[in-house]
Amino acid sequence: MELVIYKTYDEISRWTAEHIANRINDFNPSKSRPFVLGLPTGSSPEGTYRELVNLHREGKVSFEHVVTFNMDEYVGLPEDHPQSYHSFMKTHFFDHVNVKKGNIHIPNGNAPGLEKECQDYEEKIRNYGGIQLFLGGMGADGHIAFNVPGSSLSSRTRVINLNFETILANSRFFGNNVKKVPKQAITVGVQTVFDAREVVVIVNGYKKARALKKVVEEGISHMWTLSALQMHPHGIIVCDEESTMELKVGTVKYFTNNR
Ligand code: GLP
Repeated sequence: MELVIYKTYDEISRWTAEHIANRINDFNPSKSRPFVLGLPTGSSPEGTYRELVNLHREGKVSFEHVVTFNMDEYVGLPEDHPQSYHSFMKTHFFDHVNVKKGNIHIPNGNAPGLEKECQDYEEKIRNYGGIQLFLGGMGADGHIAFNVPGSSLSSRTRVINLNFETILANSRFFGNNVKKVPKQAITVGVQTVFDAREVVVIVNGYKKARALKKVVEEGISHMWTLSALQMHPHGIIVCDEESTMELKVGTVKYFTNNR
């Protein structure tokens, strides 16, 4: 696992967008051999989406042959609800780039059979030959996607009951009313994310510092699900200085000097 540390959020957003664009361009995708990209929602990747849109407008990256799989979606929230992850993706990314509608995959939290929806989602990923690069964020309790503390590290796409910390954190998008936050979501599993050839996770702000320490400096634990990234051959956490405040000086120096 590698840490890429920059001072500001804008710098990590730019680095991450350029990294993704380079990966897509190096892959040289075509209709029959698309680049398969895993995508997150949340405030952490907003800057990266903004920068990817800019790179696209400058003609530096095309999404014509990119297939996307989102990490998660709330259960029971209408697709066109402003806080659904379908809406988030349209607003921040899909409406501004040339990704084809038929290449976009987001779990359907209103599917009549949720379990089948989860199995089908895994199968669709498999049918594309797996994910090249999974981009992610991290919850303040160290979770990846909606794999809240206690999730099995070998989990796959499934319906998850959200924990109180996540409901509380996400209530900021629902008028600070915890009662309005859906209590369940469909999420890809920890294993689904880490099956990708490369995993890049954006972490920013002091509110993530405690979790970043757990994930980077302590052992692998199902209580801090992103910690499993330690086992991934190509795992990168891109973080701003604030989020590194609880790390040891030696850890920060090691990764800073390595670059
Ligand atoms: C939710 C999402 C995660 C995201 C996390 C952190 O739990 N399902 O994918 O990483 O929130 O969100 P933020 O980036 O807004 O801090």
